[in-house]
Amino acid sequence: MQNHNKAALIDFLVTKIVCESENIRSFYLRPVRGECPEYTPGEYLVFELTDSNGKKIKREYSISNGSKQQLRITIKREDPPLQSPDLPAGVMSEYFHQQLQVGDSLIAYGPVGKFKLQSSARPVVLLGGGVGQTPLLAMAHALAEQGTRATTFIHACENGAVHALGAEITALKQSFKLLRSYVCYANPRSCDRLGSDYQSSGFISKEILQSLLVLDDYEFYLCGPGPFMQAMYNHLQQLGVDDGRIFYEFFGPATLLKKAAATVEAVKLPVPTTAADDSQPGTDSASPLITFSRSGFAVPWDPEFENLLEFAEEQDLMPDFSCRAGTCDTCKTKILQGQVSYPDEPMALPEEGYALICCAIPKGSISIDL
Ligand SMILES: Cc1cc2nc3c(=O)[nH]c(=O)nc-3n(C[C@H](O)[C@H](O)[C@H](O)COP(=O)(O)OP(=O)(O)OC[C@H]3O[C@@H](n4cnc5c(N)ncnc54)[C@H](O)[C@@H]3O)c2cc1C
Ligand code: FES
Repeated sequence: MQNHNKAALIDFLVTKIVCESENIRSFYLRPVRGECPEYTPGEYLVFELTDSNGKKIKREYSISNGSKQQLRITIKREDPPLQSPDLPAGVMSEYFHQQLQVGDSLIAYGPVGKFKLQSSARPVVLLGGGVGQTPLLAMAHALAEQGTRATTFIHACENGAVHALGAEITALKQSFKLLRSYVCYANPRSCDRLGSDYQSSGFISKEILQSLLVLDDYEFYLCGPGPFMQAMYNHLQQLGVDDGRIFYEFFGPATLLKKAAATVEAVKLPVPTTAADDSQPGTDSASPLITFSRSGFAVPWDPEFENLLEFAEEQDLMPDFSCRAGTCDTCKTKILQGQVSYPDEPMALPEEGYALICCAIPKGSISIDL
């Protein structure tokens, strides 16, 4: 499905809740009015909730399948980390798992996102770790509908207890003969069956990828936890896959993949006396100066970068981020001097004096609280 509509707030009714594994559930959402918005596989919906401290939180959930009548999202319950069982469970996932009932209504914003199935004729490899498979499931369904592109669905998870929607991929293979699948369990249980439930144990290695993928011009779509993504990206780099063929989405804060592969030296200038002063040596009006005030240095803006977040990361700074698409507010940063503009408009503009740096670029020299 191609998305030609601008994302909007949609009233949904929960029509079905399905337990997919020990910690993953699917939620089927039907719009209260009209049909579902069109979406491109890979896009997500944004939900907002007020937490126990009265703070509004937003979380993104990928559409894992959909039709004109309803959209499906698939959510993992985020339990406290094993080493700190006294911490609270994840706010939004707990709400979906523990409170939301069939017949309840809820509002979502979307569909939105930059991680999208490209329209090309190339063979596709979908590489998902844990619940990161959700946008890839939507892609697999769309590819099955097209029926023309060879597709390899590779999924890694802990074991059969948390393996969700495996049967859906198996069923899809019946109608979509160009689809192959491969499952890897990190720690299979004794009841998990090698050869039918999963194909190998441990982690997905470069050698596994090499054996599965005969030489071809694949498009790779990666989604999963940070370490999984980093490992897959490194394998693909070592196998000589072009960066332009790798598309990815993180489900939450993570470091940038490309950064680890190649560290680029930035030319750093001392912080100017007047933070947003275009007349500093080494700069001209065509290259505004970005002052990272907390870090104590300034660098001329490079318009090759899509936004200030990417530019800051290039300088080895690690601002918080989640969606990287202007929907979650995680990257909200104080602007101490100067102004920004938004080539891609965020879901909502932050309050005066702040910027969502994942979608902002400088309007002249600026000083930011990083
Ligand atoms: C584009 C995008 C798409 C996504 N799609 C999906 C999807 O399809 N399915 C899905 O399941 N997720 C998806 N996510 C992730 C999702 O948006 C949420 O980040 C996830 O559900 C966790 O949110 P939460 O509110 O439940 O947890 P949070 O409240 O954010 O908590 C996260 C973790 O932190 C722990 N914690 C709580 N307090 C503390 C503390 N003080 N110190 C340390 N740890 C603490 C919690 O126990 C929990 O394990 C997606 C994310 C993005 C960016
Ligand atoms: S990272 Fe989500 S709004 Fe910027």
